[in-house]
Amino acid sequence: MKKLFIKTYGCQMNAYDSARMADLLAPLGYGTTDAPDSADMVILNTCHIREKAAEKVYSELGRIAQMKREKPELLVAVAGCVAQAEGEEMVTRAPVIDMLVGPQSYHRLPEMIARHAREQGHVLETGFPALEKFDHLPQAETTGISAFLTVQEGCDKFCTFCVVPYTRGPEHSRSPESVIAEARALASRGAREITLLGQNVNAYRGTDTHGKIWNLARLVAALAQIKDVLRIRYTTSHPRDMDDDLIAAHGSLEKLMPFLHLPVQSGSDTVLQAMNRQHTAEDYLRLIDRLRAARPDIAFSSDFIVGFPGESDADFAATMELVRTVKFAQCFSFKYSPRPGTPAAGARKLVGEAVKSERLLALQALLLQQQDDANRAAIGRALPVLFEKPARDPGQLVGRTPYLQPVHVHGPKSLIGRVEHVRIDSLTANSLHGALMESVPA
Ligand code: 5AD
Ligand code: SF4
Repeated sequence: MKKLFIKTYGCQMNAYDSARMADLLAPLGYGTTDAPDSADMVILNTCHIREKAAEKVYSELGRIAQMKREKPELLVAVAGCVAQAEGEEMVTRAPVIDMLVGPQSYHRLPEMIARHAREQGHVLETGFPALEKFDHLPQAETTGISAFLTVQEGCDKFCTFCVVPYTRGPEHSRSPESVIAEARALASRGAREITLLGQNVNAYRGTDTHGKIWNLARLVAALAQIKDVLRIRYTTSHPRDMDDDLIAAHGSLEKLMPFLHLPVQSGSDTVLQAMNRQHTAEDYLRLIDRLRAARPDIAFSSDFIVGFPGESDADFAATMELVRTVKFAQCFSFKYSPRPGTPAAGARKLVGEAVKSERLLALQALLLQQQDDANRAAIGRALPVLFEKPARDPGQLVGRTPYLQPVHVHGPKSLIGRVEHVRIDSLTANSLHGALMESVPA
């Protein structure tokens, strides 16, 4: 058996794509390995969202070039958004690359490997045959208790800071039938939680075989009918696409988890406008209120960018204010990083590095405090926990609450894949700890 090492950068969709690439190459005799040194083929599945993420890829390619000097038959492929964005240029900068494939073309990897063997040159595929990929991917062979399922790709929003509309292409939704079939296959292989993925997942508009258009609420309702699927999540959503049906679904579908990642990026209307987010801070707050009305125990996470060009002290204060109003359970925050080819990259009123760092520090301190408050609020409560795997400590299992908090509990392995109520007793840096509410036979 040949060995395949895949290194995944960036978002959950890349994690999904990496798993599909592994499935795709299995019939060619490749089994995955965690040890790059023993690999016959290396795939770097790259991320272009911020400069740092893209630069990491080039330093990894430097290490791989060293490996290839010792093992010239090693195949080196670069996939993902850096491949898509930089294309040919990337091969010029890192000639160690044998194959370069974009996120919409990786189903062609097997033929690219064959072509590379025949022609011995660099093989590139960076087109957008979006309608084609999902028809050519094999069903997932293996899955954990919690599985990702891509339902929508691409973005038509064009936030002025973001490369996604250029690297992942225009919005495209899979048909509901193919999504439901994949969810059934995942459930039959043991998945109990399914996270629907899309760059703009709540803009999902899938066309069924009768030509009818489904929105995300309808898709989630259909997936909730699959008995073995116990939990459903979806990410990432845009506030503009949070329609009435989806808000209502949070109130009516028990399997839809009360935890929503809803990036807002900034609390200042001036900055939101410059970012082309197409909503105000007030719109966002109203949306949060409506979701809380539909599902009172819902919690939120978000993404923030500090130091967007032109962001003043008052703009940043508005972001802090929005955070204090919403009270997030978890968040991701970043310093603005200009991305080549995006409208904001040409801006002149830049925020200095020191100010960016200062703002990020202040925002992260507040967000961390809120995350800690949310975790502490769990202590003393009974929460349903989906058990995922054995913990490092013998006799313990790790599961997750509806809010994705990891929980460590003593219990038999037979609980893996089941949801049980756990009384939360304590909190350590990375996890909640608790005890099963009912005794469970081993
Ligand atoms: N600079 C900093 N952060 C960015 N993000 C996207 N583009 C940039 C950029 N140019 C952040 C946004 C997005 C998350 C995935 O990454 O917050 O929601
Ligand atoms: Fe990027 Fe904005 Fe599209 Fe999200 S909605 S992927 S931030 S352009």
